[in-house]
Amino acid sequence: MIPDSFKQDLLNRVDIVDVISPRVPLKKSGANWVGLCPFHGERSPSFTVSQPKQFYHCFGCGAHGNAIGFLIEYSGLGYVEALRELADGVGMKLPELRPDAGRRKAPEGPDLYEFLERAAGYYREQLKGSTRAIEYLKGRGLTGRTAARYGIGYAPAGWQNLAAAFAQYEDKALVDCGLVIENEGKRYDRFRDRVMFPILNQRGTVVGFGGRVFEGDSGPKYMNSPETPVFEKGRELYGLSQAREAIRKANRVVVVEGYMDTVMLAQYGVENAVATLGTATTPAHVQKLLRQADEVVFCFDGDAAGRRAAWHALEVSLELLSDRKAIRFLFLPAEHDPDSYLRAFGREAFEADVARAQPLSAFLLAGLKDRTDLSTLEGRSRLIAEAKPLVGRVAAPALRAQLVHAVAEAVAMTPSEAARLMALRDATTMREERAPARIERTSTAVEGRVERALLACVLAAPELASELEVQTLDAARAEARAIVEVRDLLRAQPTVRTVGGVLEAFRGSEHEPVLVAAERILLDLRLDGESAALVLRDAQANLLNRRNKARHTELHQRIAAGLATGEERAEFARLSVSRPGLSETPQTSSKTL
Ligand code: GTP
Ligand code: MN
Repeated sequence: MIPDSFKQDLLNRVDIVDVISPRVPLKKSGANWVGLCPFHGERSPSFTVSQPKQFYHCFGCGAHGNAIGFLIEYSGLGYVEALRELADGVGMKLPELRPDAGRRKAPEGPDLYEFLERAAGYYREQLKGSTRAIEYLKGRGLTGRTAARYGIGYAPAGWQNLAAAFAQYEDKALVDCGLVIENEGKRYDRFRDRVMFPILNQRGTVVGFGGRVFEGDSGPKYMNSPETPVFEKGRELYGLSQAREAIRKANRVVVVEGYMDTVMLAQYGVENAVATLGTATTPAHVQKLLRQADEVVFCFDGDAAGRRAAWHALEVSLELLSDRKAIRFLFLPAEHDPDSYLRAFGREAFEADVARAQPLSAFLLAGLKDRTDLSTLEGRSRLIAEAKPLVGRVAAPALRAQLVHAVAEAVAMTPSEAARLMALRDATTMREERAPARIERTSTAVEGRVERALLACVLAAPELASELEVQTLDAARAEARAIVEVRDLLRAQPTVRTVGGVLEAFRGSEHEPVLVAAERILLDLRLDGESAALVLRDAQANLLNRRNKARHTELHQRIAAGLATGEERAEFARLSVSRPGLSETPQTSSKTL
């Protein structure tokens, strides 16, 4: 885990405008900067960046966040990668991170990335001198340009070639980064006589390798780097750093199975392709992919293994789906992989196939139907049973509702029957459940505005936190709870200085939605320190007033019912004086008793 204090330090040092402006052209507008929102198509700018507050908000699509969030959303970086990129930009060093922190916590060690980069350079050099490797790649149709783009190299035959590239072959770091194997006191290169594919992380740094044997040689066809502190197979996607631009442009990413597939696709002009690294698709993969583009197309071989791998990818995806994203599946003819398919049919055929790829929903339904005999009652019942765990995991509400309809249709039932059998709440009952809550909320929604304004003030000027009178707040309201939390945070952590910092501290917490709403008000009202102080005082007076009014009414009722104590009567009198004309002291009546 990266300490919160580091994140806050980092956010205090970076300027969100510096982070965003190279990627999104911004113009100064009053206290803020505005530009065309990169997260949705628009012609007039509603994307607003506040420098003093260090956050952005789009009034068109609601996208919002701090500098870290921007990099995650815009560049598709993971959380830690985003932190690293920001830290690099301001010369800070990320605290050492390990995939399984704690267990293998290494002290400040050598920079494994440097070792891997150096090895990649060495392998590239060696390729130039190996006729066999060059002939092999040429034989597969690879151009020199493509080889360069992917940094393809060659690890020569022999046991300790890396000794030529590193001053100290004995260095433990060589083992730690997976380049050298240590066995019974002997050390030798992991990769020998193989064509080398460097695996880059999203930022373009080498984190591992895949090495292929020549045709006819013994041993496993591909050998990959082992898991190391800088390389987690289940998270990386081969070719992502080279494909980023193209993915963004196409708003689509194609996922294939092999190194050579990715490389050849790019050579043929399909540059938005990446590969999993010989592992089954993981949730981390899917998350990463969905951050890159609105559409993810998994391309699998058409054989049974490909189908199984695709079904696994589908299962992993269900919980990560959103109605704004689409996942599709493309199956190639059984005898082909993307590489051979391209060489046989060309780019256009492949692109057309990609565009026609089967939507996840269709693949899901077809998969379910394939397993059962829909002409019998039993078969149809079984389909319901098998659909239940899958449909239940679909996170996208609209897609889920449609899947229920489709399943219902397949088994000749009404959607609500099918939903009931799958123990799902169908769209209509979900709406009924929500309706009363919505009516109840309308009055509080309006009143909640005062609290939201209060929260906005504190966000605009954190030093106002000390002026908050939290006793006037109604703890039943989410806004009120958030205000208290924000106040406590600002008191406890003076390094939190901007809205961006506050958002970071509450990333993923229950308070996030309220904070976002407050942040909108902040921009709408163009609050600065001075105006925030005024609005805060006003809002507090407002709240006090509201509280007194409610208390006054309550006391009035108690007095009328003959339940009031002497103290309460006195309080009522005080309130009536401070709110003249509210009401006269009611006559005690015993009727209601
Ligand atoms: P080429 O024969 O070079 O075209 O390979 P390919 O890219 O078509 O690979 P294939 O479809 O055989 O396998 C897909 C991916 O699975 C490869 O890119 C590797 O990541 C992985 N893979 C294949 N064979 C092996 C192996 O023997 N060992 C390991 N660890 N991974 C492998
Ligand atoms: Mn292949």
